[in-house]
Order: sequence, then C-alpha cells, then structure tokens
Amino acid sequence: FIPPSSGGAGGGVKAKDALGNDISVSNFLETHNPGDRVLAQGLKGDPTYIIVESKEAIGDYGLNAVCTHLGCVVPWNAAENKFKCPCHGSQYDETGKVVRGPAPLSLALVHVSTEDDKISITPWTETDFRTGEPPWWT
Ligand code: FES
Repeated sequence: FIPPSSGGAGGGVKAKDALGNDISVSNFLETHNPGDRVLAQGLKGDPTYIIVESKEAIGDYGLNAVCTHLGCVVPWNAAENKFKCPCHGSQYDETGKVVRGPAPLSLALVHVSTEDDKISITPWTETDFRTGEPPWWT
C-alpha cells in the first residue's frame, strides 16, 4: 500500500512553506531576488534552503539548513554571501561547503526540481560536487 501523499518516485516530497502549504514557483520567483537562499520544509520536514538562481529559475540543488556541528538551523547572511551558524560560529560558503569549524562537514545536498509550478525535493545520493566525495548524509 502506498499512500497518495507519499510523493513522487525516489522518496521525493513537495517543498512546503512555513504554513505547510506547497510553494508556487511563479509566486516564489516574484517575491524573492536572484541570489536569495530561502528556507522551506524539505525531506522529513527538514529546514531546506531553496536557491533563487535568477528571476526565472530556482537552483537545481538545495541545502539542508541543519548545522553539521550540533544541529542549529544556520541562517543565510546575504551581505557576506555565506551561511553563519549562530550557535558556535561555523561558516559555510554559498554552496553550503564548510569553510570554518567547528562544523566537520558541509551542509547536506538535496535535488530540487519544478513540477506543475511546485517545488519538488528528492534525496541526493550522488557524489558531493563540492568535495568530490560520496555524500556523508546517505
Ligand atoms: Fe552550528 Fe555548533 S551547531 S556551530
């Protein structure tokens, strides 16, 4: 038995906004600026950054916002073009690659795609393009 709400193939989910509603891509692009990293609810409800690529497109990968040190949600700092964890000072570049500890690992990746004006998130099981290594999160 597969419940109808289980999402698409490969364990994917529709990204949700803070109220738990599906996110309209067209509305999302109208209300954000290129370069923005915007929090949504992703796989397992994890806080996940969607990347605004341009006025017309979102990025094809997203970032799990949970700090790999002790699990704080890491805010995006647009002025410095990096993610800075308020808990113990870890920093990640704009792709989520760790650039300052104590965090030991980069932010986990997910695949992001659009489908019927909705944002679809699926697990990233391939090589981490930032490190060239297998994904530590699978
Ligand atoms: Fe982010 Fe410790 S939880 S630096």
